[in-house]
This record gives sequence, C-alpha cells and structure tokens, in this order.
Amino acid sequence: MLPSKKCPLVGLGSGVASAIASGAIAVACGGSAGDGADDANAADASASSFGDGGGGNDSSARPDGPTGGGDGDTGAGMTHEGGVAAADSGALSGDGGPPCKRGIATNTPPSSAFVPAATVPGVSWWYNWSNRGTGAALGIEFVPMIWGSASLGGPIPSSSRYLLGFNEPNFKGQSNLTPQQAAADWPQVEALAKPLAIPLVSPAVNFCGSSTNTSGCSDPSVTDPYTWLKDFLAACTGCQVDSIAVHWYNCDLPSLQGYIDGSSSLEGFVQFGKPIWLTEFACSGSSTVAQQQAYMQAAVPYLEGNPHVARYSWFSSSNIATAQLMDATGQPTALGTVYAGLSESCR
Ligand code: BGC
Repeated sequence: MLPSKKCPLVGLGSGVASAIASGAIAVACGGSAGDGADDANAADASASSFGDGGGGNDSSARPDGPTGGGDGDTGAGMTHEGGVAAADSGALSGDGGPPCKRGIATNTPPSSAFVPAATVPGVSWWYNWSNRGTGAALGIEFVPMIWGSASLGGPIPSSSRYLLGFNEPNFKGQSNLTPQQAAADWPQVEALAKPLAIPLVSPAVNFCGSSTNTSGCSDPSVTDPYTWLKDFLAACTGCQVDSIAVHWYNCDLPSLQGYIDGSSSLEGFVQFGKPIWLTEFACSGSSTVAQQQAYMQAAVPYLEGNPHVARYSWFSSSNIATAQLMDATGQPTALGTVYAGLSESCR
C-alpha cells in the first residue's frame, strides 16, 4: 500500500520496481508548497528477507564531530560524540557513549517533558522545517533547515551543530527542485554552514509518484528518491554533503528496513555510504493511534540498532492527527510518552 501523510491509501503491487512500471506508485493527493500534504512512499511489503538492523554502536570507532554551540541548546551535562557510521553524523551522548539519535519533526517546540533525564530517555533534538526554532525546552537541540530556494538566505542560529537541506525537493508540493536546481542552490546552503564549520544533511527525499503520474514529482521522469539523490550528487560537483536525509510513511518494519538497507525491490540508502537521517516517519493518517504505536515500537529499536542510521525524527504534526506526540503546548500525548520512553542505544 502507498500511504501518504494525509492522503488516502493507494494500492501498490508487491514490488516497487513492478509498481513503478505499472504506475501503481502514485501521489495520492495534491498539496501546496509548505503544507506537508504531498508525501508518498512506495514499499515492498512482501519483501522476503531483511537484515537484523546491524550490530549496534561502537563509540570507540567514531571520530569527534564539531563542537556544540555553547548556548545551552544542546543540553547540560551531555557530551558531543560525533558520527555513527562516519564523522559528523551523530548526536548528543548521554554519558560519553554512542551518540543519541532520537528527535521529533514538529512545528510545536517540545516541552521539558521530552528532555532526556534519568527516568526517561526523551528526545535529543528537534526541527521544524525552518531555519529558526524557539521555545523548546533547554536540553533539546534545535536543528535548522533550509526548506527550499526561498529560504536560502537563512540565517541559522550560531549554536547550530548541523544544517538540514531542502525538504522533499522531488515533490512539486514541497520544495519542488530538480536535482540540477538543487545542486545550483546548494552552494548557498554551504555558505550558511561554513562559518560554523558544521555538517550538511542532504535534501530529504521520498518516493514522489509513479511514472504515469506527472503531477507529483518536480521531475516527472524521476519518481524514486534514490535516483533523485544520485542525480543531485552527480550535479553537485565538489559539494559538501555529509549525511543523507530520507522520509518514509509506510507502516511496517520490513519496508522501512528495505528502504534504508535495501531489499529485493528497494535500492536502499546505505549505497550512498553516508550516515542516514530519517527525518520524517510515521504511519499515514488512516492509521489508528494503536497502529502508530505498534509501528513506532517496532521501528525505533531497528533505528537505534542500525549503525547506518545517525538520527531519526518521528513526524508529529496535525497533518497526521493519530501520530502526534504532543499537544499544542508541547506536552506529550500518550503516544509521545511512549516515544520518549523507548530505549536508546546511547544510554
Ligand atoms: C512541510 C512543512 C510543514 C510540515 C508539517 C512538511 O512536510 O514541508 O512546511 O510545516 O510538513 O506540517
């Protein structure tokens, strides 16, 4: 099946390749730039075998990344450890061990209930699809994003430790950039990161449509995220891209594993050889809270254990009411309490 953030499910064949060929992968509904409506995935729910998610974390192998900004954003008592699979990929560490990965994609700043504490793992970071974020509790790192061409000027907070690139550029309803356009704009993203010497996370991609659906993708001939990224990296000669950002809205662990690690029908993002940031994931809006929770409880241990995954952030927005982790004041919902309480490999 083909879930999208707030669109109805659309039927999907058993394999992505055949689904693309048959036009079964389709953008379920339209959206305007910035409204988050136009997200779509393809998955091979029938894929037969998947890896075990990797062998956990080995902090001793990780070089240090950039230092924190020192404005209190990054949490008192935490140390910065750098990458997971390579330099510059990691998050904060609870106690000098492996970096913490867990975050939230949310327009609402998370409250202190999400701050890592002795009694609860919490979340280490958040982002809001914007270059600026205020209001989150001290101890939860804000990561700025340059959403699209209109936000190339920034600025970004001087305390930033990472910078996220364009949001779903391969979607017409999102930042809507061909790989070539994104590559042409990328030096301006680099210019924002350079004074801070911070790592850059790639444009965040997802499946945007089928070969027969020309309404969803910025480049109708490129419907899969792997090809868009390859084309972007090829066009962006000499560019700094330290990590890969991806989104996923299927509601089952096997398809998430295949999407990241590769499967019989999904190429996998590990092919890029860079730390992976899963910056949006949840079930679609047609799922119940119980289904969101079941998927979350299956997906998070996999993400925690996969050494290729540097960070992940659950999608918490009114676009998917059943996936929301917090209320309008940043206080956790029941689902948010579950998320904050799940075990972390860094603690
Ligand atoms: C959009 C953002 C929006 C967010 C939450 C994202 O997909 O690009 O502009 O704030 O969804 O709705």
